[in-house]
Amino acid sequence: MLKQLKEDIQAVFARDPAARNTLEVLTTYPGIHALIMHRVAHELWEKECKTSARILSSFSRFATGIEIHPGAKIGKRFFIDHGMGVVIGETAEIGDDVTLYHGVTLGGTTWNKGKRHPTLEDGVVVGAGAKILGPFTVGKNAKVGSNAVVTKPVPEGVTAVGNPARFIIKKDKVQENENEQRRRTYAESISFEPYAATQDQSDPMLEGMRVLLDRIQQNEKRMNDLCHRLSLLDPTYNKQQDGEQPYSEEELKIIEEVRRECEAQSNQSKA
Ligand SMILES: CC(C)(COP(=O)(O)OP(=O)(O)OC[C@H]1O[C@@H](n2cnc3c(N)ncnc32)[C@H](O)[C@@H]1OP(=O)(O)O)[C@@H](O)C(=O)NCCC(=O)NCCS
Repeated sequence: MLKQLKEDIQAVFARDPAARNTLEVLTTYPGIHALIMHRVAHELWEKECKTSARILSSFSRFATGIEIHPGAKIGKRFFIDHGMGVVIGETAEIGDDVTLYHGVTLGGTTWNKGKRHPTLEDGVVVGAGAKILGPFTVGKNAKVGSNAVVTKPVPEGVTAVGNPARFIIKKDKVQENENEQRRRTYAESISFEPYAATQDQSDPMLEGMRVLLDRIQQNEKRMNDLCHRLSLLDPTYNKQQDGEQPYSEEELKIIEEVRRECEAQSNQSKA
């Protein structure tokens, strides 16, 4: 519990430039007070002491202006900045490193029992006054703009703004990530360690050069084999057959050109 509190306080320093010292955070941040009380209330709720849990959460609401149902599941390093007017419903689930500003509602849209509040994955940021309503998921590292009203799942890394919320996908970033992923996969497939040295590499640059040289050698060998096979082609073969001619004059010309080029390349490699 103490370790968790330390982490929660660290999260305040990391995400609020106005935070100056631990004493100040512990005494003047309603988000921290509400979180400490919620951690206790949630324990009570889990241990079936439901009335005590609800009384504690009501007191917390009275003292901080933040209403968190004791049934809500909250991860590590959760930070509510300013706090006033935040409402978090019973079946809401919040991952690690999530930030909420004042006036946020994680609410439901039905009176039926069961899961009816949203799930926020790790790293989500929800701007002041935003309303996220319904039992769907807001993906990892997504941002919800202030005053947005979100009623549909938000994909990972996306920014949702407006009412009803529209999604802003920064295409360049997505494309960049895809390219980077493609490069990494290729590098791994040829045993190239592009970004970090492994323990048995004394010089990662040299090791990288070695892998690339091996690869060039392999590719050259394949090209030479291919050229050799092509240079053996006899473009006049079809002309010697009676009857059907499967290659057109144009195709025969292309084969002959490729054959000559390959022949020249093989002679050059031999020289
Ligand atoms: C949404 C937010 C996180 C910015 O995310 P971002 O991915 O950096 O988005 P950008 O700033 O590049 O803006 C993208 C677009 O969304 C629009 N936008 C940003 N925030 C918006 C909001 N809250 N409502 C409506 N539109 C918004 C921008 O105008 C821009 O529109 P455009 O593409 O037509 O120019 C930020 O604007 C926000 O609302 N943060 C919450 C901060 C807060 O509540 N602070 C309280 C401190 S007390």
